[in-house]
Amino acid sequence: MAARAFSFSPYCVFVPDADGQSITVVHSLHGSRFRLDADFCAALLTGDDAPQSGAMSGDAWERAIADLVREQLLIDQRSRRRIERAAPFTNGLGPIELAVLRGPNEGGVKRTTEGAAPPAMKPATKGRAIDLDGPTGGGIEALAATLAKRQSIRTYSSRALDRARLGEFLHLTARAHAHVETPGLGTTSLRNYPGGGARYPLEVYPVALNVRGVPRGVYHYHAFHHRLEQRSRDVRYVDALRQQARFRMSRPAGDASEPAVLFIVTAVFARTCWKYEGIPLPLILQETGALYQTMYLAASAMNLAPCAVGAFPERAVGEILGLDATQESQVGLFALGVPAESAPGPQAITIERFAVRKGSPFAFEPSRHSVELVFADGATEIVDAGDFVVTESAGRFFCVLGRGRRRGVFAGAALASLRRLMRSRDGTIRIRIGRTSIVVGTDAAP
Ligand SMILES: Cc1cc2nc3c(=O)[nH]c(=O)nc-3n(C[C@H](O)[C@H](O)[C@H](O)COP(=O)(O)O)c2cc1C
Repeated sequence: MAARAFSFSPYCVFVPDADGQSITVVHSLHGSRFRLDADFCAALLTGDDAPQSGAMSGDAWERAIADLVREQLLIDQRSRRRIERAAPFTNGLGPIELAVLRGPNEGGVKRTTEGAAPPAMKPATKGRAIDLDGPTGGGIEALAATLAKRQSIRTYSSRALDRARLGEFLHLTARAHAHVETPGLGTTSLRNYPGGGARYPLEVYPVALNVRGVPRGVYHYHAFHHRLEQRSRDVRYVDALRQQARFRMSRPAGDASEPAVLFIVTAVFARTCWKYEGIPLPLILQETGALYQTMYLAASAMNLAPCAVGAFPERAVGEILGLDATQESQVGLFALGVPAESAPGPQAITIERFAVRKGSPFAFEPSRHSVELVFADGATEIVDAGDFVVTESAGRFFCVLGRGRRRGVFAGAALASLRRLMRSRDGTIRIRIGRTSIVVGTDAAP
């Protein structure tokens, strides 16, 4: 097979390997990738018919070219002209951006991590700084409470989500609230989440798993009409998507419960690429984050269980939804369910060790104090002395942890350390933490 008859597809992205001896070529549309010998790659780029060095036999050369032609990394003149006529990158993403979108198919949690985790914060600087106040009421209590309540919940009730609740959720999150025609900008809309240039490229495809009044299947949410359009009721697709989401989420071991709906989030590139160049992919991904948070807040306010899912098989989803990856592909996945009844209130965890430390990660002044709590599983939580809330019930002492998600129970050495700091006067127990005196509440449920 003569190399001259073929040349690299405009969808190819080339990444030299660290050793300089080989080059990884990725087909940014299909996601296929090959590691090529650098000389072989150079010969293909210059249209040479035979290996320049003796590194590859004639047979190996032929086989490699045949593989690259089969996977469409090498294309003939006719295919090239067809691609040129279609002008795929005019109002679409470029090959590098498309290759980035293929990434979720390959990725996940690393098998091994080396060295210490990077610091979670920048070191404090000694220069001028301004200390800020926290929320002081003023009508934002409901929002503050919803924000504080927001969390990823991954254990579900077997109860179905009602169709009305799904409608309410989509109305709050993805609905287009106004149809705006602007000369020179075409149709845009107003939504509850922000969108770069109001282009709103995101589409939501709900996969109904357990929704009363909506048969199991894959749907498209029409954001202007506020209705679900059926895409597929093929149980194999629904089941494959359900299992993929399960695999990608850190679900508790042995928990077989399932979310009620999975929302596949895609982007129609042309809506953003028509107006912007260079920045469309960052805009789309930033907007996906804005939609995620809107979904998290709506779910929290509705007492539902939300969870974003960062890695997903976008190529397979594209096939299921029948998407043309040059025009539209998946950029997000979000699970929603009815939370498990068995998880009311905060989860209890035993505090094994407790120490007061000078300095706090939440304050610059070294004079502030914090408390360090060590749990049975070796994890540690440091709480600013000002945020340390202790309650007593039937002779046992508790503290609020993880933004109210967990209740720490003092035991053993931790309880002894706590008792050493306690003073009781007029029936009120106080704990002295540095300069802060904490009153122990008595209203905790055991
Ligand atoms: C972009 C993004 C991707 C995420 N991907 C996953 C995921 O794949 N699996 C999962 O179980 N949780 C996922 N989460 C949820 C995070 O694990 C969670 O937000 C984080 O642990 C903080 O916990 P919280 O949301 O309960 O405050 C994701 C969250 C975001 C914002």
